[in-house]
Amino acid sequence: MEREKFGGRVGAIFALAGSAIGLGNIWRFPYMVGENGGAVFIIIYIAATLLLSLPIFFAEFIIGRRTQSNCIGAMKKLAPGTAWKWFGALSIFTPLFILSYYSVVGGWSLEYLVQACSLTFTNADAVEVRSLFGEFITGTWGPLVLFTIYLLLVLGVILGGVRKGIEKFSKLTIPLLFVLVVIIAIYSVSLPGSSAGIEYLVRPDWGKVTPATLVNALGQSFYSMSLGMGIIITYSSYIKKQENPVVTGFATGVSDFLFAIIASFAIIPAVFSAGIEPGAGPGLIFETLPFIFSSLSETMPVLSSIIAILFFLTILIAALTSSVSLMEVGVAYFVDEKKMKRSSASLLVFAVVWAAGAVCSLSFGPLKGVTLFGNNIFDIFDKFASNFLLLIGGMLTLVFVGWKMDKASVRDEFTSSGKARGSRRLFESTYFLIKYVAPVLLGIVFIANFL
Ligand code: PHE
Repeated sequence: MEREKFGGRVGAIFALAGSAIGLGNIWRFPYMVGENGGAVFIIIYIAATLLLSLPIFFAEFIIGRRTQSNCIGAMKKLAPGTAWKWFGALSIFTPLFILSYYSVVGGWSLEYLVQACSLTFTNADAVEVRSLFGEFITGTWGPLVLFTIYLLLVLGVILGGVRKGIEKFSKLTIPLLFVLVVIIAIYSVSLPGSSAGIEYLVRPDWGKVTPATLVNALGQSFYSMSLGMGIIITYSSYIKKQENPVVTGFATGVSDFLFAIIASFAIIPAVFSAGIEPGAGPGLIFETLPFIFSSLSETMPVLSSIIAILFFLTILIAALTSSVSLMEVGVAYFVDEKKMKRSSASLLVFAVVWAAGAVCSLSFGPLKGVTLFGNNIFDIFDKFASNFLLLIGGMLTLVFVGWKMDKASVRDEFTSSGKARGSRRLFESTYFLIKYVAPVLLGIVFIANFL
């Protein structure tokens, strides 16, 4: 049977943007901008995207589209009988590993959407609202049930297939995500006292720029574009030969970046308006923001309830499109290599991820005693994946395309056999970045994370 493909350029870009736009854009980027020098950080971030992330994106794209295969199949075709198959295996393992704890957070966002719809943040006392999160995640059944429902939603999209599932869902949700985040940003910047937040985001502050800033920008850009875990390889394997890789890569990078910027204006001004210090991570979206919605509901109950609902809907959708891409990597493997039906492959991946995710979900409650250096299971999963697995995956991608593949094939794929406009002019510089610059930058991030 012929392998499914994305319908065209728009479908492919929306699917890739769906993967890229995720929790990282919402709970980490805004805070990072403020803490790393505002406008200066934004410029450094753009440079990091051009010098590190896009080259890796292109390297993954080249592997995926050249072979039209899942990650292991791709290695079997490009480097048969070599240890590179282990790189393929890593690229399939990592996303499933990540999906298991990412979906736990997906479950939390579902819970918060339900709470927002039941007007919890409007009616309860603000301080109480803040403590809801700790109470919720330490429970046993609540988080487990919502995590399961969330993962079933992801499964539902995957079962629809590449075109009728992933592509259709992305075409529907990506425009919606932008509309939602713009509405929230307009609301946020119009709140009294929000100007301090705007200043926090844009004022260039060289004093905050340190070597750590560079590492933060590189790491965030890399994570935000969903690199180093076989996603771009897998999605590119569904992209038609006539599509221009350069257009696809830049469109993905730009939409991811734009969303992160708008999300910053949706969140930080509101945080400042409430007189709170911004932070990052789950605390920001599940404690600080509900607190703000609740405080605002004293003066504008209707509007703040609507914004709370829209906000958690945004989080949920952003997480879902990313999760779909994570699950697809594994499903593609079982379909291509093990000749399984898409439905059976999806159910198998669901079962594996559910089992690992359930453990992560319980690691805040019944299993909270299981720790390593003070980290619970959820944190161990997160740290091991973000600081280690992804970076290894990214590095191996660069080495493979830059040093192992022959240059003529790389050029042929990057330029769509010479037909992709503008790609011939960009090839030499991109190849240089893949071969030399990006590996050094990624190496720096790796060492810095280790220290
Ligand atoms: N790129 C996503 C984000 O910014 C993160 C992600 C990680 C997505 C892993 C898929 C897989 O949140």
